[in-house]
Amino acid sequence: MTDLIGASIARPDALAKVTGAARYPADSIRPGSLHLKVVFADRPHARIIAIDPSQALALPGVVAVFTAADVPHNAYGLVQADQPVLCGDVVRFIGDRVALVAAETRAAAVAAARLVQVTYADLPVVSDPRAALDPAAALIHPAHGSNVVSRCPIRKGDAAAALAEADLVLEGTFSTGWQEHAYLQPEAGSAYLDEQGRVVVETAGQWLHEDRRQIAEILQLPVDQVIVRYAAIGGAFGGREDLSVQHLVALAAWKLRRPVTIRWSREESMISHHKRHPVQIRCRWGARRDGRIIAVQSEVIADGGAYESTSAEVLKCLALFATGCYEVPHIHVDATAVYTNNLPSGAFRGFGSPQAQFASEVMVTRLAHALGIDPIEMRRINLYREGSIEPTQMPLPPGVSVRACLEACVDAIRVEHAPPLSPRRRAWGIACGIKNLGYSFGFPEQATATVELFGAAAIEHAHIRVGAADVGQGVQLILRQIAATALNIPLAQTTIIADDSAEAPNAGSASASRLTLMAGRAVHDAAQAALREWMNEERPARATVQYRPPATTSLDPQTTAGQPNYAYGYAAQAVEVEVDVTTGMVQVLQVISAHDVGRAINRQQVEGQIEGGIAQALGYSLLEHFQMRDGRVLTPHFSNYLLPTALDAPLTITPIILELADPEGPYGARGVAELPLVPFAPAVATAIHAATGAWVSDLPFTPERVLRAIRDAGM
Ligand code: MOS
Repeated sequence: MTDLIGASIARPDALAKVTGAARYPADSIRPGSLHLKVVFADRPHARIIAIDPSQALALPGVVAVFTAADVPHNAYGLVQADQPVLCGDVVRFIGDRVALVAAETRAAAVAAARLVQVTYADLPVVSDPRAALDPAAALIHPAHGSNVVSRCPIRKGDAAAALAEADLVLEGTFSTGWQEHAYLQPEAGSAYLDEQGRVVVETAGQWLHEDRRQIAEILQLPVDQVIVRYAAIGGAFGGREDLSVQHLVALAAWKLRRPVTIRWSREESMISHHKRHPVQIRCRWGARRDGRIIAVQSEVIADGGAYESTSAEVLKCLALFATGCYEVPHIHVDATAVYTNNLPSGAFRGFGSPQAQFASEVMVTRLAHALGIDPIEMRRINLYREGSIEPTQMPLPPGVSVRACLEACVDAIRVEHAPPLSPRRRAWGIACGIKNLGYSFGFPEQATATVELFGAAAIEHAHIRVGAADVGQGVQLILRQIAATALNIPLAQTTIIADDSAEAPNAGSASASRLTLMAGRAVHDAAQAALREWMNEERPARATVQYRPPATTSLDPQTTAGQPNYAYGYAAQAVEVEVDVTTGMVQVLQVISAHDVGRAINRQQVEGQIEGGIAQALGYSLLEHFQMRDGRVLTPHFSNYLLPTALDAPLTITPIILELADPEGPYGARGVAELPLVPFAPAVATAIHAATGAWVSDLPFTPERVLRAIRDAGM
């Protein structure tokens, strides 16, 4: 059955999704459910003086109005519990939750939420991350002592001395904006108590067991008293790493002993879940005349918004990838994540890497131009190779394949004749990318799977249990392909349960491009272990395996040395753009996207990841301009937050799939999910420069910004 690996097998869930038959979290409401509605703060920073629910409670059909005092443990968070479930004293961003209304109908819940009277005393609003660092700035979390969420310095060699000796030093300033996950399906969920009194939460998310941990802590229950189940999902992209509605439905069901349900509108989703971090980067890059990059100094400031979410972890990626995928002997990076009264920033496909490598890739091309070296040759000189020393002073994990990605990408570029002289100018741009696979910097990393084999003489059926969330990427099919191959049985003889915390062991999150590698190894190893039991005549044969990859470490606080990651994914992209120099409009014509995926378990799904990632990268680069002013969102609708449509999509996308086996991955597979987001923006920036002579340094490259850059460049 080895032909299962690499086969483009159709997704079993695809038909139901395109016909509308699939059951999403808002589609399954238990009879007798109460409807919940959140009372949001709707102001960026204020002290709560009083909450008066009496008018709301007087409305027919209203059952309860919950406030902070009703929450057993009123603090939660993925990394640090700094976010209240319901705010008691202070609100810190407009999407903060102040009260939760439960009513017999959705209409009654909506009407009652408007009647909850909250009296506020406004506090100074901190909306600029640099201003937030001023010692005189108002503190978002006074008990924290400052507005610094975290810092991540990286030191290697002596950057100041090396810059002083460099033949060429260039300075750069870059900024990036928020990005909204814009999944098709806004947050929704239900909860009820089962016959054993356990709290059952049905929703869609990225990590069953982490949702369960946080809900249990909030309700002060043992984890086995909470069950989390995932229904069909309309995308996640990091936006469902943090709790959204899971704990709210759990709280109401637990308090009221009745089934409850909630469904957020698009606008509620937009204002209350975290976004991609806006980042400001100031850097100096030094090179020798022969093209060797010798030193980088960089200052990185990330707007973390009102709560920590995953800011400290994203910041580490921002710092580690400040030098991209290039071996630089002297590095001095200071990265800071800052609390503000803006929406919280957190996980989003790429996790800091797109922002960091927007700057690093543009700087490499600018250095090449200034030295008179071809930018591709400049990359060949400096790219990571096997055994290169990372910014954290240790050798890279084996399987360094970014050069192969670059060469495959370059080989595929076909330059056609330029169009006749017109306001539209065409040109190509190229960039490379790196992203860690799996958890970094010593964060505990594991995946556990159970495989059970049934049958008499031959294996008739294999049942896989693994808590690996399908967020639209198709991981459940991948894991069945791996198990069927390891057991040498047809795919049809495998089943999987991956969406119930009580029925499947913890495989970690659907994030960090990790599930194919991590859950894939756990399933592969469990299948092999179960097969050994089978050979020993066990019926049914059963094995549970916890896979742990090579250990990573946090960085030494003195030297900043450490082993941050056990595996990386690599990519290179070339894009051809057409820029209208009279309007600043940029159309992406062609994209070549080369990825080393180690081994494509399902080729069509790998291509789907690449094409979907490019659509999201195109939105991030050109269209999606999420704007806030004084802590308020100016773009809460899809009418003013512009997502790419079919008309904006590239005319062609050419995925190039390299299969240079990863030492750890099942059948050599490594992750790909986040990689398409990494090189895209700098490749487009480089193409715009090649077409117009102008550099754009602020993401997204809106027509106004492109036009201004063209005028500033005197074109
Ligand atoms: Mo992702 S940004 O690793 O959920």
